[in-house]
Order: sequence, then structure tokens, then C-alpha cells
Amino acid sequence: MLNIAVFASGRGSNFQSIIDSIKAGEIPAEIKILVSDTQTAGALKRAEREDIENIYINPDHFETKKDYEEELLSILEGVNTDLVVLAGYMRILSPLFVKHFKNRIVNIHPSLLPAFRGLDAQKQALDYGVKHSGCTVHFVDQGMDTGPIIMQAVVPVKQDDSADDLAARILKEEHRIYPESIKLIAEDKITIEGRKVKILKEEN
Ligand code: GAR
Repeated sequence: MLNIAVFASGRGSNFQSIIDSIKAGEIPAEIKILVSDTQTAGALKRAEREDIENIYINPDHFETKKDYEEELLSILEGVNTDLVVLAGYMRILSPLFVKHFKNRIVNIHPSLLPAFRGLDAQKQALDYGVKHSGCTVHFVDQGMDTGPIIMQAVVPVKQDDSADDLAARILKEEHRIYPESIKLIAEDKITIEGRKVKILKEEN
């Protein structure tokens, strides 16, 4: 059984999609804790509702980012975390943190990486005029949105889309590929070779 810790800053709909897949028996994993850096995050309320241990940690209460992350690490160790799942966590983890959980942190980003890294990816895609965008699940390395890619989904961009329209279309796919990716990890079906993530095929 894979022990998961989820980090979320906002609404938490991806967090919910993972909860739902676990509850449906689709992923051999347990969410041990939800950590948020935002007191009003919807994700905290979802965790309460689902009876999942949850904690709000105010980064401003720490003198340095290192202190903040040391607190995070001790929480993660306290629940024997195997995998850290970033689900709309809007902070960049330091190289030290990433090293500590090397190849054991995953993120979802609302674009087809390497296009449109960083904030407001859906608006970036619209402004650029691409005809397709989508979402990417990837391992977190020391860059921003640069780690090895596990899964991607493509969605069309429509002529009159607002950023919200596109975000909603992408979100539907996020809710599909994030649980699927975590399932592969939980079932130990993934290997990383350099930048490439290989998925072990089922034997017939
Ligand atoms: C999602 O669209 C996710 O891809 C994005 O934030 C949203 C969180 O929604 N993440 C990033 O932009 C990370 N750079 P949610 O709180 O409902 O899961």
C-alpha cells in the first residue's frame, strides 16, 4: 500500500479525484495527510469531510523557506510518506526538498509541457494562439515544471474560449490522468530512465 501525502493550495478538485479513485478501489494507496499553505483552501474542507488528516501550515510563520520545508519534511516522515502529490500546490519546492524525495514527488500542470510552464498556463496557451492544449502529470525535479513526464492529455482550444472555458475543459482530463498516473506508481509499473518514464505493459 502506497502512503500518499497531498499538498494543495486551493479548491482541491484534483485531490478529490484521487480520493474518489482510492475509495472506488482503483488505486492501492492511502492518503495519509493533506497539507495546505492556505488557510481557506477548499482542499482542507474536503479532507475534513473525507476524514483525512489535514494540516494548514502558514509559510509566513517561518523565518526561512528552509525552516518551513523542514517542518513539512517532519510531517511527511511522521506519516511514513512514500509519495508526495502536488495538487494545485502553488509554491516551488527547494532543491533540497526535491532531493530528499527524489523521484517521489509528482505534479499536475494545466498545459502540454514543456509549453507554458509556470502560472496561468491556460491563459498563456490562449494568448499564444495554440489550437490544442492539455495537461501533464510529471515527476518533480529541481526545475519549474520540467521533470520527467508520466502522462499527458490533449484538449482542443476553441476559437471563443475564455481562460475559464479552457481551464474547465482541461480540468476534466486532469481528473482522469492524475489518478491513472498515481495508480501506475502505486502498482509499481513505472520506471524512470533519464528524462523518460516507461510504463510496464501488462503481460497477457
Ligand atoms: C489545476 O488546474 C492544476 O493543474 C493547477 O492548479 C489547478 C488546481 O485545481 N496547477 C498548477 O497550475 C500548478 N502549477 P484544484 O485545486 O481544483 O485541483
